[in-house]
Amino acid sequence: MMDKKSLRKQVRALKKTFSAKELRDMSDDVIARLLALPEVKSARTILLYYSLDDEVFTHDAVDELVAEGKEVLLPVVVSDSEMEIRRYNGPEDLRRGSLNIMEPVGTPFTDYQSIDVVVVPGMAFDADGNRLGRGKGYYDRFLALVPDAYKIGVCFPFQKFPTVPVDDNDVKMDIII
Ligand SMILES: Nc1ncnc2c1ncn2[C@@H]1O[C@H](COP(=O)(O)OP(=O)(O)O)[C@@H](O)[C@H]1O
Ligand SMILES: [Mg+2]
Repeated sequence: MMDKKSLRKQVRALKKTFSAKELRDMSDDVIARLLALPEVKSARTILLYYSLDDEVFTHDAVDELVAEGKEVLLPVVVSDSEMEIRRYNGPEDLRRGSLNIMEPVGTPFTDYQSIDVVVVPGMAFDADGNRLGRGKGYYDRFLALVPDAYKIGVCFPFQKFPTVPVDDNDVKMDIII
């Protein structure tokens, strides 16, 4: 099986073969399936991510979910290994963070047990729910704190592989869409 580093490199190269328009079209499909999931529809509190240009586009989805009255949370990178969670109420909350990701200002959200759904980006996923991230383990550390949340891996179709290399710290997804 390919090692994590090689697979990340392969996915980075694959991403460059698609135009912004192609990525956005693929995103629209993924987001439509995400928003149609019963676990998302029934969620009261949902942690998403605010996408970078090369990730499944979530900017409109977070606003839709806020408009539906859901409590929407986003991650904030606070150190080389840790992320905290903050509430997202609208675009005016966002500031550019340390990894160039837009992150909400505000106080940490710590009521972890109330998080119903976590939408998790990744570099690669397999059908068993295994996930490869960007290599810092942020989500592995965080997801260990929310064992009961429904974990949804999201990626472009070309990021799905027959198997993804994992080790003991890697937290599995409940579904990949
Ligand atoms: N729960 C955890 N506690 C401590 N270290 C962790 C934890 N999860 C992951 N790590 C460490 O973080 C680093 C990156 O993890 P890795 O799974 O390769 O990254 P990613 O999930 O971002 O692809 C590894 O050294 C891993 O051992
Ligand atoms: Mg990992």
